[in-house]
Amino acid sequence: MAVQRTLSIIKPDATRRNLTGKIVDRLEQGGLRVVAQRRVHLTRAQAEAFYDVHKERPFYDSLCSFMTSGPVVVQVLEGENAIERNREVMGATNPENADAGTIRKDFAESLEANSVHGSDAPETAAREIAFFFAEVDIVG
Ligand code: CMP
Repeated sequence: MAVQRTLSIIKPDATRRNLTGKIVDRLEQGGLRVVAQRRVHLTRAQAEAFYDVHKERPFYDSLCSFMTSGPVVVQVLEGENAIERNREVMGATNPENADAGTIRKDFAESLEANSVHGSDAPETAAREIAFFFAEVDIVG
């Protein structure tokens, strides 16, 4: 299996409840390394551009409002099979469907306020990492 990088976001519902450290611990315990990290309050334009792929979905407007409702922590995670590994550690998008012991099962408030985002494929990861980080910002 190859070493991969994936883009992770700790969302406003989690930063509001001061859960950044607990979530980073879950990621690290799951075999992922934080090789870049920044806390940022997204602008509306940034949220809309980041979630552009969902712009025709009924939840797009509400999602962009939620993602700008407070600070987020954007991260690059690195590890063996990191994209899939992170998805396992996060759990299903809807916390009601997430497995026991996953971040979303234990911390998410709702389908929208689901505590974390993770890239879903290598092409998405490349786009999402480049959205927030320059290569010099990533130190493995
Ligand atoms: P995320 O992995 O960040 O990708 C898109 C986000 O939209 C998702 O997590 C949820 O927070 C949010 N969302 C809200 N409603 C839905 C829905 N019906 N299906 C998928 N994602 C949704």
